[in-house]
Amino acid sequence: MRNFVSVADVSNIDNLVEKALRYKKDPFSDRSLGSNKRIGCLFLNPSMRTRLSTQIAAQNLGMDPIVFNVSNEGWALEFEDEAIMSGSTVEHVKDAAPIMGKYFDILAIRTFPSLKNRDDDYSELFIRQFIRYAGIPVVSLESATLHPLQSLTDVITICEEQKISKPKDKKPKIVLTWAPHVKPLPQCVANSFSQWINAWGKADFVITHPEDYELNEEFTQGATITHDQDEALKDADFVYVKNWSTYHDYGKIYCNDPEWMLTNEKLQQSNNAKVMHCLPVRRNVELSDEVLDGPNSLVTREAGNRVWAAQAVLSEILKPTI
Ligand code: CP
Repeated sequence: MRNFVSVADVSNIDNLVEKALRYKKDPFSDRSLGSNKRIGCLFLNPSMRTRLSTQIAAQNLGMDPIVFNVSNEGWALEFEDEAIMSGSTVEHVKDAAPIMGKYFDILAIRTFPSLKNRDDDYSELFIRQFIRYAGIPVVSLESATLHPLQSLTDVITICEEQKISKPKDKKPKIVLTWAPHVKPLPQCVANSFSQWINAWGKADFVITHPEDYELNEEFTQGATITHDQDEALKDADFVYVKNWSTYHDYGKIYCNDPEWMLTNEKLQQSNNAKVMHCLPVRRNVELSDEVLDGPNSLVTREAGNRVWAAQAVLSEILKPTI
């Protein structure tokens, strides 16, 4: 694996999941793989889970992680080619990224979308420019449109749960449901979850959201899409809860209908479904306390699994190529 920015960088999802679960059992089994190597973790946006789990994963592999909060502590970066830099940006990524390529062996980057210009956000300019100019492997810690480390974690958590609950020999029904929120959020997690579950191909996958919240078909193709949340939840084995803002009329909130919040009453239609969310979560807006604090919630285990997802990915990048 050279870079990790989408599911397209993964040759075999099941193998990567197995590797992550092996690391969960034996975190230090590849302690020498990253010895004398350094990962730079660049944050242009806030993070708790991604920031901490990636550092722990790197350390488990013997790597030295260095975190750089670019947005607060670095020079404002310019990403546009041929920009006339007479505004607020101070340093071009064309100059900064190759220097990081000298300091680090792997570069990991978190950038959020502006939610103002869809074409700009969906061009993934920031992460593309780092890949172009750094000269070392690049890992997405969430980009403008995707969150692959989160999605790998989600598949790991589903596989792990299936091993524990030993379901009958049938595909699990996985439902991605839109949830209300107080502000417009990126589509990254929903896009990425859809992309990974479709690529994994081992689930009956349903996406439910209010009208006008259609995601980009590039990611959802293959899923059943419905505006009827109750219908979607019937017989569900896993319910993935997430808010996203509108994609077509970009970055808006139309419906903030509290009825879309997942409750225990709604879950009764499911097959005793396990509930997932990438976190952070707005309690009693996106998800009720009773669900989050109840026995069906996987959210804490899911967040814990972020370490093993990151460790599996870093290990694949560090692995010597023949
Ligand atoms: N799920 C997730 O990416 O969490 P953080 O924003 O805290 O990293």
